[in-house]
Amino acid sequence: MYELAGKRVLVTVGSFGIGAALARGFAERGAIVGICARREDRLAEVLADLQRHQPASRSWSVDLSDLDGLEAFARRADEELGGIDVLVNNAGVPKRRGILELTPAVVEEVMAINYFSPVRLTLALLPELIERSGRVVNISSVAARLGPPSEAAYTASKAAITGWSESMQVDLAVAGTDVLVHVVNPGVIDTDLFHLPDNDESLADVEALPVEAMVEPVLRALDDGTFEIYVPGWFADIVGGKFPDVGAFLAGTIAWVQQKTQAEAPTP
Ligand SMILES: NC(=O)c1ccc[n+]([C@@H]2O[C@H](COP(=O)([O-])OP(=O)(O)OC[C@H]3O[C@@H](n4cnc5c(N)ncnc54)[C@H](OP(=O)(O)O)[C@@H]3O)[C@@H](O)[C@H]2O)c1
Repeated sequence: MYELAGKRVLVTVGSFGIGAALARGFAERGAIVGICARREDRLAEVLADLQRHQPASRSWSVDLSDLDGLEAFARRADEELGGIDVLVNNAGVPKRRGILELTPAVVEEVMAINYFSPVRLTLALLPELIERSGRVVNISSVAARLGPPSEAAYTASKAAITGWSESMQVDLAVAGTDVLVHVVNPGVIDTDLFHLPDNDESLADVEALPVEAMVEPVLRALDDGTFEIYVPGWFADIVGGKFPDVGAFLAGTIAWVQQKTQAEAPTP
């Protein structure tokens, strides 16, 4: 059991979607929660809920793509929360765009928020997390393991944070620290992520789960010390089926996309 009462938790983009559901879930269990994103109105709405449980909860308006500002932000959040026990790297932007339409600038923009911003925050807070026997929760994606179509930029950023998490966990254990790292792979969760401009339409045809469905599995992973979870859990079986023969899995994906796009094409 991981006791959250009185713990300090920083959730990036805790103002909306999965992050807000997790922030509320931590607060309901007595944690003092800090949240950050850009839009202040959304931050204020969630913060009011968090402060009903713990008045010391805080929010900060931060642009996480400003990588050079993140070390100072991490120090400020650490000071104002009174230390950080759990860092939840939840910030992430989608990019559903085929490889032939991608530019280096777009790929780097996605990488900055989805990979380099959690890396900057983690490295800045690691000494504190080690001292407090803390936890790092990285919100990755099933995309990191499954390589979905038209998501090369997004998939690469999520595979990067997943690989980073694996190596980091090994290093932290070998160094004798108690810090546990968790990787959380949401499947399809009902947020704005699927309705943003500048993205191709999603081909996903599985039912979207409400954001609240994320809370209990994440808290259970903290309790059990589980490294990696999928929500919903059946995605783990698909990933397990992929790795013995990745080529066959890709061939199946190609056939699925071709069938789907032909079926959806308007008849001439
Ligand atoms: N939803 C899913 O099905 C799904 C599936 C797999 C993985 N995930 C992952 O889960 C995490 C949360 O996703 P979500 O669906 O809850 O997100 P979301 O609904 O798309 O919300 C993302 C929020 O990120 C904030 N943001 C974007 N750029 C930012 C920046 N530069 N600086 C600070 N904040 C920024 C925006 O808030 P502001 O405009 O206020 O900054 C935006 O509302 C992400 O890492 C995502 O990749 C989600």
